[in-house]
Parts: sequence; C-alpha cells; structure tokens
Amino acid sequence: MTSITVATPDDWHVHLRDDHMLTAVAPFTANSFRYALVMPNLVPPITSMAMAREYRDRIVAAAGPDARSDFTPLMGLYLNDDLVIEDLLAGVAAGVVFAVKYYPAGATTNSEAGGASLIGYQSVLEAMAEAGIPLLVHAESTDPDIDIFDREAAFLETELTPACDAVPGLTVTVEHISTRSGLDFVAAHDGFAGSITPHHLTCDRSDVLANGLRPDLYCKPVINSREERDALAAAAMSGNPSFFVGTDSAPHPLSHKETGRAKPGIFNAPYALEVIAELFHQNRALDQLESFLSLNGPTHYGLPVADSTITLTRAEPTQTRPEMITTSGGVEVRIFGAEAAALWTIS
Ligand code: NCD
Ligand code: ZN
Repeated sequence: MTSITVATPDDWHVHLRDDHMLTAVAPFTANSFRYALVMPNLVPPITSMAMAREYRDRIVAAAGPDARSDFTPLMGLYLNDDLVIEDLLAGVAAGVVFAVKYYPAGATTNSEAGGASLIGYQSVLEAMAEAGIPLLVHAESTDPDIDIFDREAAFLETELTPACDAVPGLTVTVEHISTRSGLDFVAAHDGFAGSITPHHLTCDRSDVLANGLRPDLYCKPVINSREERDALAAAAMSGNPSFFVGTDSAPHPLSHKETGRAKPGIFNAPYALEVIAELFHQNRALDQLESFLSLNGPTHYGLPVADSTITLTRAEPTQTRPEMITTSGGVEVRIFGAEAAALWTIS
C-alpha cells in the first residue's frame, strides 16, 4: 500500500457551467479542491464584475453539503469588447475578479464571443500588466491553413509573442499546455506559467483515434502525439515551479459528445487527482506530486499554500467507480479516469 499526504490541491482551470449542470458538477470540484479558477465561457460569457459576482454566488450555492470549508471559487472574466477596463480594475480591487481569459473566436466550446486577435486588446492588456492581473490564454490558432496538431505552436508565435513584446510586464498562464512548444514558451518567459490537464498528461492521439473514435477524449487543444504527452508528463513530474494542474474539467451532455459533431471538452473533476497520482506513482515521482497539485499554482499566483492536507492511498481495486453522472435535468455526462480512480482513495 502506498500513501501520500499533500497540501490540499487547487484547480487552476475548470468549467463549472450553470443551472442543472452546475448543480451536478460543482460538488466534485468543491469536495476535492481549495481554490477553483473558474472559466467564464458561459453563454453569454462572464464579462463584468456584476456577472462574476452573481456566478460566484451560484457556484457557492451549488457546492453542496460535502464541500470543503476552504473551497473558494476564483473568477475569470472573458476578454472581448464587452469588458470595460474600469470595471475589471474595480472587480479585482473588490476581490470578485481574479484573472482575465482570452479565447480566440472559434477555437473551442463557447468561444464564439472571443477575440479576433489578442493584440487587438492592447489597452486592456496594458492595464492588466500595470495592475498585475493574470492573463489566461487559450493558445490555439484558428487559422484553417494550419494543421490542428500545430495550432498551439502557431498561436504562441503569431499571437502571444507579439502581444507579450508589445506589453512588457504581463503575467501570462498558457492554459492546458498540449505540446513542447507550450512548455518551451513558458520556460523562455520569466514569470510565465502553464497549466496542464490530467488527460493531456496521460493520453495521446492514438488513444483518441486508433481503436474506434473516442469522442470522450476529444478536447481543445486536441490531445497530441506520444512525444508531446511524454514531455508534458516530464515537466509536471520535474517539480518545475512554472507548471501546475488545471484540470480543464469541461462537462458536456453525452448527447453532445456522441453525435455527428462532438463538442470538445472532457469531464474529469471527479477523478482528476487519482489520475494524476497514478501517473506520478507509475513514474516513481510521487515526491513531486505536491509541487504540481498544491504548491506551484498558489506560489505563481501569489497566494498562500493551503494549510489543510489530503491523503491519497493506493491499493488494489476492490470496486469499480462510476463512469457517468446524471444531472437533475436527466442529462448524462461521462467521467474521465474511472480506471485510475479505482486504485486510489482520498481522505
Ligand atoms: C472547454 C469547454 O468545453 O468549455 N472545452 C475543451 O475542450 N477544453 C473549453 C476550453 O477550455 O477549451
Ligand atoms: Zn478550458
């Protein structure tokens, strides 16, 4: 039996949705994580302090009876023309808004309201640099001439590099890094960071495509090659303080996944910690687990490390874990990671 105790983890990238989906999924995050950096890609997107405050209240109400007492949603605002600089600054000063998220329009789920070009928001970025507000980036080009597996690198080169050059002092998190390009970009920029998901750490594109098409593994940025996966895992397990977990847990109704055009997004919040613990265990890297789950993120964002702990224990599986939830609206959602979850208990 293997057992490890770590400071309570934070999730630096999560989609909690709204209404009955929020009610169904929020408890999984609230039971396991202290901070949850909540993505603003609702329809319509969260673009103001008032919207963020109301959404935060709905999340706290949905967290459920078993929520950790220190569970705290941190709110991101969606960067588009509706975002008003004065409102952003007031939202941050009021402790309601934590960060700003940029989505290239058309890159992913609910990104239609996103931007045509990052540098188009230079005045917002300058205000953010000045105030030290983190910029969270969905780094994926939407150029149809660029191969889908190369779009992270393309975005970093053609969109993020010019924006960072034009606005020195910006604090950037490259979200859900999926390739070595993302790792290298972060390494080349002082003070930048990258979040990495459980699925990009443990799956490659053969898992998605080789043995029957797996819409449950379809997400943006798309899961890439074995080489890229191995590089991500090495970075996560290295203890490098620039990298930390962001689950990118992104629930979709099964009917939107198993259909003609599957929606991108993987619901992994219930078993994210178990999946990551199993990866680290398999690679004899459990001594770096706390850095990736619980230390590097808060340190990057200038927040205290949790003063509570959780203990993860590995034993031979005695029972299988559920692979599906059903919302109060009768909507089924598939969960990622049940196999790893059967090996671990968390207390
Ligand atoms: C996310 C979603 O469903 O909201 N989907 C995904 O594939 N990751 C959006 C995002 O983070 O890209
Ligand atoms: Zn996401």
